[in-house]
Amino acid sequence: MERKSDYLQSRRTIRKYSSKPVDDILLDSLLNKGCRASTTGNMQVYSIIVIRDEVMKQKLSPLHFNQKMVTEAPVVLTFCADFNRFSKWCRLRKAEPGYDNFLSFMTASIDALIVAQTVCVAAESEGLGICYLGTTTYMAHKIIEVLQLPSGVVPVTTVTLGWPAEIPEQVERLPLEAVVHSETYHDYSDEDIVSYYREKEERSDSVKFVKENNKETLAQVFTDVRYKKADNIHFSNMLLQVLKEQGFMNQ
Ligand SMILES: Cc1cc2nc3c(=O)[nH]c(=O)nc-3n(C[C@H](O)[C@H](O)[C@H](O)COP(=O)(O)O)c2cc1C
Repeated sequence: MERKSDYLQSRRTIRKYSSKPVDDILLDSLLNKGCRASTTGNMQVYSIIVIRDEVMKQKLSPLHFNQKMVTEAPVVLTFCADFNRFSKWCRLRKAEPGYDNFLSFMTASIDALIVAQTVCVAAESEGLGICYLGTTTYMAHKIIEVLQLPSGVVPVTTVTLGWPAEIPEQVERLPLEAVVHSETYHDYSDEDIVSYYREKEERSDSVKFVKENNKETLAQVFTDVRYKKADNIHFSNMLLQVLKEQGFMNQ
């Protein structure tokens, strides 16, 4: 008999969705399951913004660099680190919240990401498709405006959700021994690195990527095109400013 969790081995990100709607009862059940996930001190220091409205999707689209999933998916979920609600409860109950710091942001972010991934697992186990959007942390300042997030709330990730309109090829992963260490960390020799990254480098889409971008190696596509240092520093500074403005930098 096939075990229920076996689909985890065959999952892949879905970026094209059919027109079949995701009904509210199903979505609520996925969100409910997500909220059963572990959460720091059972504080649930996260919020989930459900976006179905076309106008809202149009507003969010450029903030996700016009990735088509935002307007094409029936549901867009933005997961936020949120100490606003919990701090309000503290104040109402004569308790002084001490959550205006980076550690609390990390705590709330971890909570938000655990909920997000649990919703994704629940969705994928129902046959739905999902795609995470890393652009959320790049453009957090603008997403805060559109979603009207108050102080103490920062968007940490977005997930687009819908019924798959395609089943793309699964992409490779590094071999297990590349990422798993026994008892202590074993640093990598050059030979280890060459052997662990060989499959990724030899894939035909990787070879195509390198050629199209006029690069010599696949790593250069990452460092010089996809995740450039200058961009990383720029968006990192913006995110630090967001954390300050949203009250997470020890004010
Ligand atoms: C935090 C995070 C951010 C991501 N951001 C994007 C994104 O902005 N656009 C996109 O198309 N895919 C995004 N992805 C999906 C990854 O590209 C995808 O998971 C990876 O290539 C592996 O493919 P697979 O999920 O099909 O195995 C993101 C995934 C994660 C976990």
